[in-house]
Amino acid sequence: MACTTDVFKNMFLFLLVVAVASRPATGKIFDVRKYGAKGDGKTDNANAFIKAWEDACARSGRNRIYIPRKEFYMSDVEFKGPCKGKTVFFNNGRLLAPVHAKHIKQDAWINFQYIDYLVVTGHGTIDGSRSWSSSNFDMKRRLPANIAFDFVRKSRISGLISLNSKSEHLNFFCVDHFNISHVNLTAPGNSPNTDGIKIGMSSNVKIRDSHIGSGDDCIAILSGNTNFDIRNITCGPGHGISVGSLGKHKEEKNVENVRVRDTVFTGTSNGIRFKTWESPVAEITVSGFLYENIKMVDVQHPVNMEQKYCPYPPCPKLGDSHVQIRNVTLKNIWGTSRNKVAVNLQCSRSFPCKDIQLININLTHNGSDGPATALCENARGSARGKMFPPSCLN
Ligand SMILES: *[C@@H]1O[C@H](CO)[C@@H](O)[C@H](O)[C@H]1NC(C)=O
Ligand SMILES: *[C@@H]1O[C@H](CO)[C@@H](O)[C@H](O)[C@H]1NC(C)=O
Ligand SMILES: *[C@@H]1O[C@H](CO)[C@@H](O)[C@H](O)[C@H]1NC(C)=O
Ligand SMILES: *[C@@H]1O[C@H](CO)[C@@H](O)[C@H](O)[C@H]1NC(C)=O
Ligand SMILES: *[C@@H]1O[C@H](CO)[C@@H](O)[C@H](O)[C@H]1NC(C)=O
Ligand SMILES: *[C@@H]1O[C@H](CO)[C@@H](O)[C@H](O)[C@H]1NC(C)=O
Repeated sequence: MACTTDVFKNMFLFLLVVAVASRPATGKIFDVRKYGAKGDGKTDNANAFIKAWEDACARSGRNRIYIPRKEFYMSDVEFKGPCKGKTVFFNNGRLLAPVHAKHIKQDAWINFQYIDYLVVTGHGTIDGSRSWSSSNFDMKRRLPANIAFDFVRKSRISGLISLNSKSEHLNFFCVDHFNISHVNLTAPGNSPNTDGIKIGMSSNVKIRDSHIGSGDDCIAILSGNTNFDIRNITCGPGHGISVGSLGKHKEEKNVENVRVRDTVFTGTSNGIRFKTWESPVAEITVSGFLYENIKMVDVQHPVNMEQKYCPYPPCPKLGDSHVQIRNVTLKNIWGTSRNKVAVNLQCSRSFPCKDIQLININLTHNGSDGPATALCENARGSARGKMFPPSCLN
């Protein structure tokens, strides 16, 4: 498993941090201006920010990097741990990214790595500076995320605004015990690959009380994730909350135990979505999902399981997907579907979906070509309560 070597390293660090944290600690403020940062929107402040980070990170107790209410331009930065204490990245400013992706050498403009007890907060904005309106969609290289968190544990983000990312807003890899709340991630609906939250190989993640409107998935749940609790999200525009895409790479891991509750999708292309490629290489299980109290407002495909995912046809047909989808409950799902097929359950012929439970569904078709319908292919399970469109499960 990709996180293992670091899990060991972090276990040692955890013991160290516990020892340190039990000392009486007073907070210390590291104002980026003291490190030469200039809030003029032009000076490259990357070095000043990194120096402030290094000092804060090297000190035990609670340490706060403080960014005042000004515009700070900076090229790419890496904020690396392990840190001795708890580090708070408190941003009241507007951080501006380089306009051109070629001036960002990493996968993300701002990258937090190997940190425990990190807090990212403040009333400020992270501005990816991508002018999507200019519509020169040069997709030749992978564009950088606004912020990436790799191997960050026992941490949280609250109160972050992220605008016009070049690629995804927030990328998470191998994070554990991470809370995300009160974030607003915004990019235009036609901006390609601007996922709100893209996350893989992570566990014990809570995403709450947030608005995500973007040009790709609001939340993309990738391989190797377990124990997610997602609640009170408004998503739109965007492609919905997606599991996947999965099934393309041999080394993929199971995705287990995900709850999504009290969420509204408005004008999105998808709502509840699973996507796996038509390929047998990854033999994994996707199971233990509960979607509860979900409202769809004019959503193209409110419920969409696609085990022949092929966004840019033609795709090579390598064989049925070997991703087993099992134990998925959809409870209290209502609203309007732009497409006549409001519930689409197209599962793998070799690994049919099992234990799909539909409880109280009321999705109406907003269109003139008749009432909403459900479509099942290799999908097994049961339905109870109000059921519109009528269930096609067997
Ligand atoms: C995340 O939230 C839960 C419950 O809301 C809380 O118990 C936990 O301490 C939080 N974790 C962090 C790292 O803030
Ligand atoms: C999110 O931020 C955008 C851009 O600043 C703003 O227009 C929108 O009102 C915000 N949404 C919420 C729910 O805070
Ligand atoms: C849901 O999240 C929004 C922010 O997007 C917040 O204003 C509201 O209070 C939250 N609702 C509940 C019930 O927590
Ligand atoms: C199905 O998933 C739920 C979580 O959504 C879990 O609580 C339950 O134990 C799972 N049931 C089985 C039979 O695996
Ligand atoms: C129905 O569709 C129209 C346009 O196609 C849209 O403007 C309207 O908001 C939709 N209504 C609902 C309730 O989804
Ligand atoms: C389903 O939704 C429609 C339109 O939103 C509503 O008129 C109808 O009463 C609902 N049906 C049930 C059984 O709740």
